Amino acid sequence: MAETVAIILAAGGSTRMNTQLAKVLHEVCGRPMLAYVLQACRKVGIKRMYVVVGFSAAQVESRFADADDIVWVRQDQQLGTAHAVMCCREHLQDFEGQTLILCGDGPLLRSQTLRTLMDKHEAGQSAATLATAVLDDPTGYGRIVRDAYGNIQGIVEHLDCTPEQLEIKETNPSNYLFNNKRLFEAIDNIKPDNVKKEYYLTDAISGLISTGHKVEAITAMQPDEAVGINSRAQLSEASKIMQRRIQARLMDNGVTIVDPGNTWIDARAQIGQDTVIEPFTYIHGEVKIGQGCRIGPFAYLRDGTVLDRDVVLGVYTEVKNSTLAEGVRARHLSFIGDTTVGRNVNIGAGSITANFDGEKVNRTSIGDNCYVGSGAVLIAPLELTEGSNVGAGTVVSKESAKELGKKA
Ligand code: UD1
Ligand code: CA
Repeated sequence: MAETVAIILAAGGSTRMNTQLAKVLHEVCGRPMLAYVLQACRKVGIKRMYVVVGFSAAQVESRFADADDIVWVRQDQQLGTAHAVMCCREHLQDFEGQTLILCGDGPLLRSQTLRTLMDKHEAGQSAATLATAVLDDPTGYGRIVRDAYGNIQGIVEHLDCTPEQLEIKETNPSNYLFNNKRLFEAIDNIKPDNVKKEYYLTDAISGLISTGHKVEAITAMQPDEAVGINSRAQLSEASKIMQRRIQARLMDNGVTIVDPGNTWIDARAQIGQDTVIEPFTYIHGEVKIGQGCRIGPFAYLRDGTVLDRDVVLGVYTEVKNSTLAEGVRARHLSFIGDTTVGRNVNIGAGSITANFDGEKVNRTSIGDNCYVGSGAVLIAPLELTEGSNVGAGTVVSKESAKELGKKA
């Protein structure tokens, strides 16, 4: 199979989102939507992604500064999706392989769908292959127009549709695979003859067909993959769909989620077998939870939380940037921040680590088998040695820690 690269369109601002932030940086389950599209490409073995940016370009580039498989392409004026592709010409005009084109605002796309698209394209030896979706409500999407034999004739944008075309339920989610040479030939002939006066990438499809090239459209996308995000309402809709997928994956891995509709788990979270997540738990950021833990109800776990096995965190317990060893219990009303907690430590109701001194965040270390009574305040920086006993209501500082007794 010829080499495949991807062009990801992400230059547009978003009037309907009403935002200062680049649209593709808006987050779905804790990650910017562009991250999902990049990940889907990587999963099917794509080694180079040309990401076209314009609106808030520097913001987008800096958010993904670590990625070495991205080539940033600037589109200073957003003259349409075909124009965005034209901006990649200097990088790609001599490329002999095939080019996948995706939208940065379509984070729900599955990598399996890309695989299906690539296989179909290869098998059909087509100039272009696109993946379509049949939607109950196709409002806003380009419609797939087919002839009497079912062959694709072209794509008509919602605003350019006739009343009959508006009835078509097969839509274009903007996932295409092109023979790269044919793509750039077709792009040259596109004119902005439409309601929006933009250069439409969709016209490359009808262009190739009218010049006698083979184009195939396959309904490879499930409706839940096809949501393109143009508004805050669609952002929340996409987040819900993604959340269901994240939870389904975790449940397949042996995690109990008592009430999926009232639980929110970040896409990056890892959770071990036989852990139970009670309702109203919110897990945000890179969080790792071991096996056999019990989390919630009403627990809040933030970035950098690492729990070993058999940890119990109960109601209104917040943990951030902390590592808790096996057997730790913090059942009620605690805040554990920037802390290393040893094995079998008990943190009583309402006890907190005071990790911020007004200027900087400081760390706490609690040794194995310590007992922290209810309502204790542990003022960081602080180290409690193994087996320390902190009485209920105690305020412990670096100095007073030396006088603590040992647990009986
Ligand atoms: C586009 C498709 C439409 C499809 C829909 C799926 C065209 C003409 N229409 O419409 O058929 O159903 O996506 O979501 O392609 N972008 C640029 N530069 C530009 C314009 C857009 O990079 O000059 C990027 C946007 O940032 C976005 C993507 O291209 O990520 C799609 O653009 P958008 O304006 O959202 O297109 P739609 O009207 O949704
Ligand atoms: Ca869109």
